[in-house]
Amino acid sequence: MENHTINLTRGVPPAEVFPIKEIETCLSTALNRDGGQILTYNFVPGYAPLRQILAERMGVPVDQIFTGNGSLEIVNFLSSIFLNPGDCAFTESPTYDRANTLFKRTGAQMVGIPMEADGVNLNALEEALKRRSPKLFYTITDFHNPLGTVTSLEKRQQVARWAQEYNFIVIEDSPYRALRYHGEDLPTLYSFAPERVVHLCSVSKLLAPGLRVGWAMGSPQIIGKLVKWGIDSTLASPSPTQAIVYEYMRAGLFDINIERLKKVYAPRLAALASALDRTLPEVIYPKPEGGFFIGLTLPAGNTMDRLISDANTVGLKITDGRAFFTHPADGERFLRIPFCTLPPEEIEEAVQRLAGIVQR
Ligand SMILES: Cc1ncc(COP(=O)(O)O)c(C=O)c1O
Repeated sequence: MENHTINLTRGVPPAEVFPIKEIETCLSTALNRDGGQILTYNFVPGYAPLRQILAERMGVPVDQIFTGNGSLEIVNFLSSIFLNPGDCAFTESPTYDRANTLFKRTGAQMVGIPMEADGVNLNALEEALKRRSPKLFYTITDFHNPLGTVTSLEKRQQVARWAQEYNFIVIEDSPYRALRYHGEDLPTLYSFAPERVVHLCSVSKLLAPGLRVGWAMGSPQIIGKLVKWGIDSTLASPSPTQAIVYEYMRAGLFDINIERLKKVYAPRLAALASALDRTLPEVIYPKPEGGFFIGLTLPAGNTMDRLISDANTVGLKITDGRAFFTHPADGERFLRIPFCTLPPEEIEEAVQRLAGIVQR
């Protein structure tokens, strides 16, 4: 392991968790059962049997489900639908950098609301709302990317109330929700304001990202707008992969796979938390109970350019923490560590190397 570079930049599932044989069987079953339908245009909003089974899983009527080419495509559609140049959009700060890029691309004015260990800072959010109502607020309520935090019940309820009062849409992006390794699930933010919140999920972290299958659950009005935008943008989303996911869920394999994944990832989270507590006790981080990431704040005196260049010298690749923040300077000492991709021994080694370059 000595000379091998350890990559801490990618929050993707490791190749060994992909159930390739099961997916092969699901594709073959789908083609045999419904090949004519699967291989033609399946007009937006997506492959009907998948939408139906998702509606049943989520407990909503089928006209409240839209399937897309990964959840990021749906973020892209929603930002194009709701944001015009000069509009205002709120995100958490830090937030998922790719979603932020999509919002910025619309020409909207972005406001980042600082995060705390249990979700967004409500005082800062209220002050920002009093200054200017946004068209939308993007939030990652469960096992945040990049922080690993979960938004508390109280904060979910308050954001839902303000969404009604100040008349904005909430995008609740939730690809990690099912990956809880301990503790109890909280109700979705969607459940507190179903007409204002679009809840997004995908199979990227729960089955395989290459399938590019994500979905939105929202009010029939919002889903209707997505359908119109989707037809105009892509005509139809790829149904062979949506049919694979349908077969996978129909066979009861999806929930079994999630349990398998938890058994792989839970020891990796434990290994990272234990290595950090032993080796870098001075770093501050919220203790995640699931997901893919731990977000760290390093002690004062550390700066990102130096960390990135020192990391290279000890065989570590790290993500520039500034990329996650509305004001990049706020991320000068921020590190996102994905624990999902690496086996526990490599996690231990990565933290040892990190400890060698962190200024105390
Ligand atoms: C918060 C969040 N949203 C969306 C995505 C992208 O998901 P998908 O592969 O479904 O487009 C990711 C991927 O890392 C993510 O972390």
